[in-house]
Amino acid sequence: MPAVETYLDRVLTMEVGRCTEAAAIAASTMIGRGDKEGADQAAVTALREAFNKLEMDGTVVIGEGERDEAPMLYIGEKVGTGKGPKIDIALDPLEGTTLTAKAMSNALAVVAMAQGGTLLHAPDVYMDKIACGPGYPDGVIDLDAPVEDNINALAKEKGAPTSEITLCILDRERHQPLIDGARKMGSRVFLIPDGDVAGVFHTTENSTGIDLYVGQGGAPEGVLAAAALRCVGGQMQGRLVFRNDDERARAERIGIADLQRKYNLRDLASGDVIFAATGVTNGTMLDGVTWEPGFVGTHTVVMRSKTGTVRYIRAKTKR
Ligand code: FBP
Repeated sequence: MPAVETYLDRVLTMEVGRCTEAAAIAASTMIGRGDKEGADQAAVTALREAFNKLEMDGTVVIGEGERDEAPMLYIGEKVGTGKGPKIDIALDPLEGTTLTAKAMSNALAVVAMAQGGTLLHAPDVYMDKIACGPGYPDGVIDLDAPVEDNINALAKEKGAPTSEITLCILDRERHQPLIDGARKMGSRVFLIPDGDVAGVFHTTENSTGIDLYVGQGGAPEGVLAAAALRCVGGQMQGRLVFRNDDERARAERIGIADLQRKYNLRDLASGDVIFAATGVTNGTMLDGVTWEPGFVGTHTVVMRSKTGTVRYIRAKTKR
């Protein structure tokens, strides 16, 4: 058996992209049908089938939920042939179920893989997040600082006025104080209806114009976004948010001792990481699936932290 590192580097990188392609193609059959559960199910089934062809001893650490609530790709489920190296898998077969059901942009199929034990086993609760792209000094942003201070810090480093700072925030009532704070500074706010893995990733791409991501979204999505940032650079912090005792118990069950912990990027994804995402609907980062006579087209990004390589793959699969 090859060493885990070699296997991850040489073989799995491209295979992960095949898996997200399969999930995205399946989900795309449900675009605009108003059935978010059906869309998610299609993606889950296809992703699981694709994983099980891979020579690996994979464990889902971020998945569709706990075993009693998710029949497939639940946390702890073993995937792959069981014969290869031990791999931790974080997945969101369909990031943006509502986006898909309503045929809105930026729905993705997303997977991150890493050597066993190096991805945070995050429970399915919320996470407060802050992220910025690469090129800033360490510690330029701070989850615990007011949004105004984070905007000022980025503006200073950028050598630009605060009116030239753009934030990406999930369009939710709970974020109104953040939105108001940013607008008082004269900054722009790019509101997204869903999909904060892409939201965080947008901070790393100059073409989006987005400098800062702030707000509360899913904790699993936080780990996936961190895996992406590990590959392309950038900074991120997160803290789990618990709304009740059941959520706290859920975290304790999976071994989280310090419920107040502020996680840095490397606490969320510490080892070498592979990240892949395929567009389901058209988006800022990736084009969506296209169905054309004789083939289906996909657009995928595959990245790995060890080398910082980012590959965009346009595939045509016969149908
Ligand atoms: P789904 O794909 O499960 O619908 O999640 C989409 C999403 O927008 C995530 O990107 C985000 O982290 C989370 O939902 C935010 O949760 P909420 O909709 O409860 O604010």
